[in-house]
Amino acid sequence: MKELGIYIHIPFCKSKCHYCDFVSFPRLDNRIHEYIDYLIKEMELYRGLLEEYQVKTIFIGGGTPSYLEEKLIYKILYHAYKQFDGENIEEITIEANPGTLSRQKLKTYKDIGINRISLGVQSLNDNLLKGIGRCHTSKDFYNSYELIRNVGFNNINVDLMFGLPNQTMEDCKGTLEEMVRLNVEHISYYSLILEENTKMNKWYKEGKIRLPNEDIEREMYHRGIKYLEGNGYKHYEISNFSKEGFQCKHNLIYWRIKPYVGFGIAAHSNLNKKRFWNYNNFNNYYHDLDKKIFPIEGEEDIDKQMEIAEYLIMGLRLIEGINKKDFFNRFNIKVEDLYEDELKKYKEQGLLHIDDEWIRFTPRGLDLSNIVYVDLLP
Ligand SMILES: C[S@@+](CC[C@H](N)C(=O)[O-])C[C@H]1O[C@@H](n2cnc3c(N)ncnc32)[C@H](O)[C@@H]1O
Ligand code: SF4
Repeated sequence: MKELGIYIHIPFCKSKCHYCDFVSFPRLDNRIHEYIDYLIKEMELYRGLLEEYQVKTIFIGGGTPSYLEEKLIYKILYHAYKQFDGENIEEITIEANPGTLSRQKLKTYKDIGINRISLGVQSLNDNLLKGIGRCHTSKDFYNSYELIRNVGFNNINVDLMFGLPNQTMEDCKGTLEEMVRLNVEHISYYSLILEENTKMNKWYKEGKIRLPNEDIEREMYHRGIKYLEGNGYKHYEISNFSKEGFQCKHNLIYWRIKPYVGFGIAAHSNLNKKRFWNYNNFNNYYHDLDKKIFPIEGEEDIDKQMEIAEYLIMGLRLIEGINKKDFFNRFNIKVEDLYEDELKKYKEQGLLHIDDEWIRFTPRGLDLSNIVYVDLLP
């Protein structure tokens, strides 16, 4: 049986953060129940198509899945288990915002099989949190964290951000130190991306906010890496760190280009050498599902050249890099034969480390990865 990752998108939030461009909406509480019913219809449609797959991971993301009543999360997973082979699921993650969790919610999550909680913390500086439009304080984080542990979860991720308006090196350090002290199993440490359609981008263009300059932003990243590596965390992907044995199995499916299916509006899938994505609005999504049609807005065939480029680009996100033997086993050709000039060039420029077995970014390469990616595309 082939292994599969499942992503389930919950596009609802309590409020919209100033930097966020994810497909997620505040003030749509009256549409939540209806949306869940459609999610279930979509899963039913996929039953036949996924018969030869065994689900390995499920990721309930958003948006803010923890904003929903727990019975709805229960309902989603109950139907997922009914439609698909979930005998050997290893990891089920739910994304949660501090302040949206209760003991009852967490107990329900545990009862239905969720074994990993991903908390969006961003920072423990309350002024910064307010400035980026988060609807919780650091105290909410501590309360949620304690609840999660008390209910018995032993696999917690925290999302942190750096390069935020008015953020200092000390802020970053303080937040990371707290996470180390609490012994969280996994840390995602993201550099702020100014997304086109966000309030933060507008304010930046109008000169209303200032961001740390590029040197400081890079220092926040590299000092963060050094600090976490010195405190028992493995830096295993550009933005991700984990204690031994706690790498995110679901995200590894994306980075290693293995099959996954996404349910819900705007969800992406990669299956049978095709990449496809759902409508990103409710009306089109519902319209197709009412007619028992897959609610797909677009699709692309992945030809061999594209598959190779994606494998390299995603694989280089992993700090261990690309294993030359794995590459040969998958594509039946040596990576050096395909990319001789590019590999030589970036090795000479000090962006890639290449030895007999592996190709990976150097620390400098991690900062300039986009230059390399562009050269790998067909
Ligand atoms: C799908 S989002 C949301 C999960 C959850 N709703 C929350 O906010 O905690 C996952 C993570 O992406 C990160 N993120 C979102 N927008 C970002 C941006 N513009 N730049 C960098 N990181 C971003 C945040 O750390 C966020 O927690
Ligand atoms: S960052 Fe999370 S909580 Fe904030 S708007 Fe985006 S999805 Fe919602």
